[in-house]
Amino acid sequence: MSARQHQRKDTDRRSAYLDKLLLTGGAQLRGTVEISGSKNGCLAIMAGALLGKGETVLRGVPSIGDVHTMIDVLRALGVKSAMERPGILRIDATEIDGTEAPYELVRRMRASFSVLGPVLARKGYAKVAMPGGCDIGARPIDFHVKGIQALGAMINMDHGFVEAEASSLMGTQVYLNFPSAGATQHIMTTACLAEGVTTIHNAAAEPEVVALARFLKQMGARIEGAGTTTVRVEGVDELHGTDFDMLPDRMEAGTYAVAAVMTRGDVRIENIVPEDVEPFVLKLREIGAVVDIHEHAMRVRAKERPLATDIMTMPHPGFPTDLQQPFAALLSIAEGTSVVTENVYERRFKYVNELVRMGADIKQEGRTAIINGVPKLTGAQTSASDLRAGAALVCAGLAAEGRSEISGIEHIERGYENMIDKLKGLGADVALAPDEQEREAVCV
Ligand code: UD1
Repeated sequence: MSARQHQRKDTDRRSAYLDKLLLTGGAQLRGTVEISGSKNGCLAIMAGALLGKGETVLRGVPSIGDVHTMIDVLRALGVKSAMERPGILRIDATEIDGTEAPYELVRRMRASFSVLGPVLARKGYAKVAMPGGCDIGARPIDFHVKGIQALGAMINMDHGFVEAEASSLMGTQVYLNFPSAGATQHIMTTACLAEGVTTIHNAAAEPEVVALARFLKQMGARIEGAGTTTVRVEGVDELHGTDFDMLPDRMEAGTYAVAAVMTRGDVRIENIVPEDVEPFVLKLREIGAVVDIHEHAMRVRAKERPLATDIMTMPHPGFPTDLQQPFAALLSIAEGTSVVTENVYERRFKYVNELVRMGADIKQEGRTAIINGVPKLTGAQTSASDLRAGAALVCAGLAAEGRSEISGIEHIERGYENMIDKLKGLGADVALAPDEQEREAVCV
């Protein structure tokens, strides 16, 4: 693709941010939807690809805002990185010309911070702006910094940047106060090129951590224990490029499952890993949905109003915090009272007021939301404050009576590939329309 075509694509992407989503609820979703590659898996793997000399080919990469931001981060580091055909991303980190990930990019997406360790391991120095990303609560980077420091780096935090310097990295023991997915991935990746053995205790066991370990091992890394609470990495001198198939996005699968149940539909969701979706499938069954699991697909259907249940978000294999919001939308039309407790990110309740505007009865106090199910929601104008809040509002709008308008859809575009086409394919009445107010605000 020429530079001009790239530029045009970027402009198209940015102008989509000024659109809003129009939804008319009531259609029962029916048919088949194909799940894209995992956003979170992909972002960590793209950072991991910085360790390899030679070309890496990633297959099943979703064309979403966060992946494009990560491509921009890699390019800012002087690494060749391009989405060639849909789903195929080539990264060649044989040479890493730059050592700085700038604020304009890192503030857009927190996951871009994870290039700090790999660039440090390859170049002996890295400078990355402190992260931004979805506003869902305090999202510190102290575990990441502590881990990289323990591997022997000198860290300097100044003027909104983290600088790391080390002529060589040494294997170490790291204990995480909380099994952070991002910190586990970042430290595991960085340790691949350290001298000796690194052990991460109280590590996150998310499927995306396991996928990253599989990817790094394909590049020549020596890693054991990914998917358990203790990950052991034995450093090697060099890693090489590889060819890797992305794991499916379990959060996207969960979102379509919620939409199917909320609309009393019948949807076959293809491209899943059964054990990865188990935490929310068990909850779907608890509230009365019928879920049939096949080798790489599941069929989700519901005929009746869902039943209330309680949800507590936890690190994997607990109930995923990323699905707390769509599930809360589902429970808002359940029969009875549900209690939702958020144990991972305290501010992941920003969607509550928007659902209340649609007729939901939700009281939120601290980390808990008490949801008294109502028989139906009504369409309204709402605004997505973050990615999963946006997903919750889409699910609510699909089930609501009448028309809904959702603004702030740039958040949804960060993580859901082709959501509008996929929903249309399932029979939803959904379209994009220019958000004139947003456009005026931007033009002023
Ligand atoms: C990742 C996912 C995000 C998901 C989250 C939890 C990506 C790009 N994002 O985010 O979608 O919701 O896992 O499954 O993969 N913490 C600290 N210090 C740190 C790091 C984390 O205190 O240095 C805390 C956080 O504030 C939070 C908890 O640890 O309370 C879990 O965060 P973490 O698992 O790190 O989330 P992310 O990796 O940022």
